[in-house]
Amino acid sequence: MERKTAASQLKTHGFFALAALMLWSCIAIAGPGRPAADGARLYVHYCAACHGERGRGGIGLPLSLPSFLAGVDDGYLRQTIRLGRPGRIMPAFPQLHGNQIDALVRYIRHWSGNRPVMLAAAGKPGNAVRGATLFSARCAICHGANGVGGEGTGVTLSRPRSQPIMAPALDNPGFLASASDRVIRTALVRGRTGTPMRSALKQGLSERDIDDLVAYVRSLQYQPPPRAAAPRDEGPDIVGVSPDGVTATVARLKEAVEAANMRLIRVQYLDQGFVPAGKENRKQVIVYSCDFGFLNTALQVDPRVGLFLPCRVTVLQHHGKVLVMSVNPKRLGTLFNDAALSRLCDQMYRKYRDIIEEATF
Ligand code: HEC
Ligand code: HEC
Repeated sequence: MERKTAASQLKTHGFFALAALMLWSCIAIAGPGRPAADGARLYVHYCAACHGERGRGGIGLPLSLPSFLAGVDDGYLRQTIRLGRPGRIMPAFPQLHGNQIDALVRYIRHWSGNRPVMLAAAGKPGNAVRGATLFSARCAICHGANGVGGEGTGVTLSRPRSQPIMAPALDNPGFLASASDRVIRTALVRGRTGTPMRSALKQGLSERDIDDLVAYVRSLQYQPPPRAAAPRDEGPDIVGVSPDGVTATVARLKEAVEAANMRLIRVQYLDQGFVPAGKENRKQVIVYSCDFGFLNTALQVDPRVGLFLPCRVTVLQHHGKVLVMSVNPKRLGTLFNDAALSRLCDQMYRKYRDIIEEATF
């Protein structure tokens, strides 16, 4: 029987971890451009996982509500698909051709029976400074201070019951490049019936207040985007080289896990369950552990974090060296386009790195 070499195991390990994540990360893999774009098919392929089969929302906002569709123009929809919302989960789709994006927009419009878009009338130039004060008092409770957006995703697990839909980020460069002042004004004048976003007029704000709020939201465009996802050059794995043999390294790793206040879950051979019992390769061991406090916090932010927890550190002998390795959480963070999750992944990275350094010191 041919055994897999350590090198190919090593590659497979990293590859499968990443491949599984890519699959699950809702970011559908691009198919080749199709000449006759089919909006329904494109929608199922690229959008339904987050926005729901019928556009009723999920991780993403609802797209089929008449109040939404009547209040945004096609330019807004097109640009939103093109640019996404950097750091706010909604991916950009630079791989889609113009005719595919048009087909998606037509498909989304069919939910309102293609009823015409009726934007609110254009307003007067407002006072952004006054708008900022109004925003803190009236809007920040949902949209976050300075319009950074509500926390968590729209997924049941992470959303408070009082807020069935997470308020989008208004400071987002993808949003601001897509929404004209009239689109912003329309959301304020009418609200979005069927969501927590209520009409500002019905709450007693004046036309002038609305002009000032629009000016304020627009002014966020000129602030340096604090959380724009910077492309990071992260390797897929964190790897340490141990001075000891596999057994001694596993023992040290277990100590390091406990020293980091993580609960040891189990230790097993990499190929356990794949080969007859007793035939496992004893030079390849996985140590599973979990920090439950951290897990809970992370799940509140983005339930998809559950896909790469519990922590899993592998010890294996490779070309005479004993390697201690884990997936690099920072790399994972970049797959999800979620700034809040990326911050947690940075924390997780430091923890993995400390454990691996401790075990290989
Ligand atoms: C990985 C999840 C995800 C995928 C895939 C996704 N979206 Fe989104 N989308 C979101 C999230 C989350 C938001 C809200 C962003 C925020 O909170 O700031 C959003 C926002 C939007 C908005 C703005 C809605 C509004 O009320 O202004 C539109 C339009 C949109 N998405 C369309 C699409 C389309 C069309 C596709 C497929 C081509 C798609 N999205 C794919 C998660 C996703
Ligand atoms: C109770 C929570 C809540 C409050 C308060 C609130 N909003 Fe919203 N807002 C939302 C939600 C949720 C949405 C998304 C609606 C949707 O899914 O179409 C939204 C959408 C918007 C949009 C459209 C953005 C987009 O991506 O579609 C703008 C602009 C906006 N709000 C501005 C404001 C302003 C300005 C105020 C203060 C006057 C305010 N909101 C108050 C919850 C709120």
